[in-house]
Amino acid sequence: MKKIAFLTSGGDSPGMNACIRAIVKSCLNQNISPFAINNGFKGMIENDFHEMTYLNVNNIIQLGGTIIGSARSEEFKMKEFRNTAINNLISNQIDGLIVIGGDGTFTGATILAKEMDIPIIGVPATIDNDIFGTDFSIGYDSALNTIVDAIDKIRDTASSHDRIFFVEVMGRNSGYIALNAAIASGSESVLIPEQISDIHFLANQIKNLNKGIRGSIIVVAEGDDLGGALKILSDLKPLLPSFDLKATILGHIQRGGNPSAFDRIISTKMGVHAVELLIEGKTNLMVGIKENSIISIPIQDGINLKKNPIEENDIDLLKKMLTTN
Ligand code: F6P
Repeated sequence: MKKIAFLTSGGDSPGMNACIRAIVKSCLNQNISPFAINNGFKGMIENDFHEMTYLNVNNIIQLGGTIIGSARSEEFKMKEFRNTAINNLISNQIDGLIVIGGDGTFTGATILAKEMDIPIIGVPATIDNDIFGTDFSIGYDSALNTIVDAIDKIRDTASSHDRIFFVEVMGRNSGYIALNAAIASGSESVLIPEQISDIHFLANQIKNLNKGIRGSIIVVAEGDDLGGALKILSDLKPLLPSFDLKATILGHIQRGGNPSAFDRIISTKMGVHAVELLIEGKTNLMVGIKENSIISIPIQDGINLKKNPIEENDIDLLKKMLTTN
């Protein structure tokens, strides 16, 4: 293993830079040349490869986003462009590739693995934390803390004005971050894609919620089947004319900001382990964290298998925290 290339792809997540730093330092300390591919698979197609030094990763462990850029590449879905990308890996004499990202990134990596002989290792990084086989993906903990901090602020004004706030968080297909944000922020309820929601049930729930407490928070995952916070608000207003309803969409603020200490630690561990796996001659694996240990599983499992369903117990936990009399 003389040259290892790496990229960040898909939605950025806090901790990606800490992972980049870990990969670069771990390569350099073992006499391997690390090469960053800028802007994910797009940069692989465009031959945007850059050799990295210690200086390039100095003072980046604390930065959100990704210093090497990320992209969602439509071209990479086409074989002719993937052929160009593979030729670029070969002409740059890359011996191993590390992809840092979520399910879209891993899908790209598995297709690539069938079309070339260069070993590939995946590192899970997505605020959604919806990748099978790992308890945590890079960025989830930081985003969760950002959301909880925002909800704490919203709660101040919700209680001052005695309003019901619908706070929309990210998660197109997964309610993991929404549910845990609701638990951590003491929210009254949560709407997630994994559960069927009903607007009339919700209206009744709100009537029962507000027995004497001032202000309520309901967290809505963007992928919930009722159509997001704004749609819920307009559908609920006629059903609850005497309630003061508001919606806040947190949006991309959730993806930015400094990584938490936890994300910096798992990013460093996963980045170092990805390099180790390539040195050991492994391929088509995804690194992960299970029960506080670093593990690896087939990268295909990360995308093909479903992460454990949302625990009913966790949903019940919210109900147990309600003020009911
Ligand atoms: O996959 C991470 C994620 O942040 C999702 O939660 C969200 O639905 C999506 O990315 C947004 O993607 P984009 O920034 O490309 O609009």
